[in-house]
Amino acid sequence: MAEYSMQPIEVKHVSTQYRTIKTKIPVPESLAIFQTLKESEPRSMLGMPPVIWDRAENFTVFDKWGNRWIDWSSCVLLANTGHGRSEIKKALHAQIDQGLLATYVFVHEKRARLTKTLQALSPDPSGYETFLLSTGSEAIENCIKLAKTYALKKFGPHKKIIVSFENAFHGRTLGAQLAGGLPGLKNWIGLDDSAFIQIPFPDGYRVEDTSFNLFLKTLDSKNIQPTDIAGVLTESYQGGGADFLPVEYAHALEAFCRDHDIVGIYDEVQAGFGRTGKMFCYEHYGIKPDLIACGKGISSSLPISAVIGRTDIMELYPPGSMTSTHSASPLCVAAAIANLDILQKEDLVGNALRMGDILFPELVRICGKYPSVFPVVKGKGLVAGVRVFDPDTGRPDSHTALRINTACFQKGLLMFAPVGSNGECVKIAPPLCITEDALREGISVFEETVAEVLKSH
Ligand SMILES: Cc1ncc(COP(=O)(O)O)c(C=O)c1O
Repeated sequence: MAEYSMQPIEVKHVSTQYRTIKTKIPVPESLAIFQTLKESEPRSMLGMPPVIWDRAENFTVFDKWGNRWIDWSSCVLLANTGHGRSEIKKALHAQIDQGLLATYVFVHEKRARLTKTLQALSPDPSGYETFLLSTGSEAIENCIKLAKTYALKKFGPHKKIIVSFENAFHGRTLGAQLAGGLPGLKNWIGLDDSAFIQIPFPDGYRVEDTSFNLFLKTLDSKNIQPTDIAGVLTESYQGGGADFLPVEYAHALEAFCRDHDIVGIYDEVQAGFGRTGKMFCYEHYGIKPDLIACGKGISSSLPISAVIGRTDIMELYPPGSMTSTHSASPLCVAAAIANLDILQKEDLVGNALRMGDILFPELVRICGKYPSVFPVVKGKGLVAGVRVFDPDTGRPDSHTALRINTACFQKGLLMFAPVGSNGECVKIAPPLCITEDALREGISVFEETVAEVLKSH
């Protein structure tokens, strides 16, 4: 976990159209709030740059002491249409005024509107349905359950294995962590469930063999028959950086799943709703997932998630037996409808693509000045991962990643704490509504910061 210093220090004041830094950082008056949290909640909840969010608007974040940051976090790739969008606030006010705040799975009208909208975004609206839930992890749990149920009912108990990928992150609940590929996150489980196995992810740097052959060879080495596999689960891009599947690999995986009646599950919780310059990231591969787990950017605000999936799989459970108390909660649904409306009306998917065409080459240019520190820069649309390495040891360098992240924060450019299996990845993910001048301003802060941090390295 990243440890930010809580000692307020004098930093250079900043005043631009989008950024204002006019206090010590962290703000001395904010320390009491951090202290209360330290005393009243688990330390696991801390670990972000020490700012107290007071208000956030489009692509900037404000504290109440007059500081303002350009946001390169979107919270955590959540605020796709931007923070505090007036259309979403209006929809929420209207929902409150209507007088309906919860329904369990009794029906309310907007639920039908949202499931229909999401169905229309699916690979084939006539053959897909949508199930609404609350969190990304919950959507993943449901995908695992559906894949295993499909296999059990159609083929019997031997077809039970969920294949996923090393270094994958699918959430923090039990099933999501069993399917996750970060051993450190799941050793608490104390259960070596052989029905969950992971395959090396073809990222091209940790794993040089990016051919689908490695997938088959790995199954073979683990003595797993395709006939025993219920589902294959992958993030559309691995979010510990921004590592995409090779297109041919995704095609081969799809054919493999089809040939063996295996449910192909794409985790779009982070990648969906325009982040990569397509509505869903799997569209870059030209494939059709059987199940799609969605979350985060579906509402850009309130907690709502969804599984969009093949009708024959989604229909496996009878009425009343696949539900959750907060499924389709009215405020969350209202937020999601307004959010998807903005995404489409403002063509923010297109904006992500256009801005990505600026961001990525600029990151490559900046990082290219220090190739042994930044040998791996990945991204598409408005997500990028810059991995930091120690040029002397060639090992991931979380310390320098954190220094870059902290120095950007002190200059009014906000990112969440570095990610990746070793905390070495500086992740960049602005809201999709970011303008070109704000993006370029962020890029120049990043460039200046990298130069300063590496000079004193
Ligand atoms: C790819 C991916 N899947 C699943 C999740 C879990 O979502 P949630 O935190 O809403 O449960 C996340 C969250 O970061 C994610 O990035």
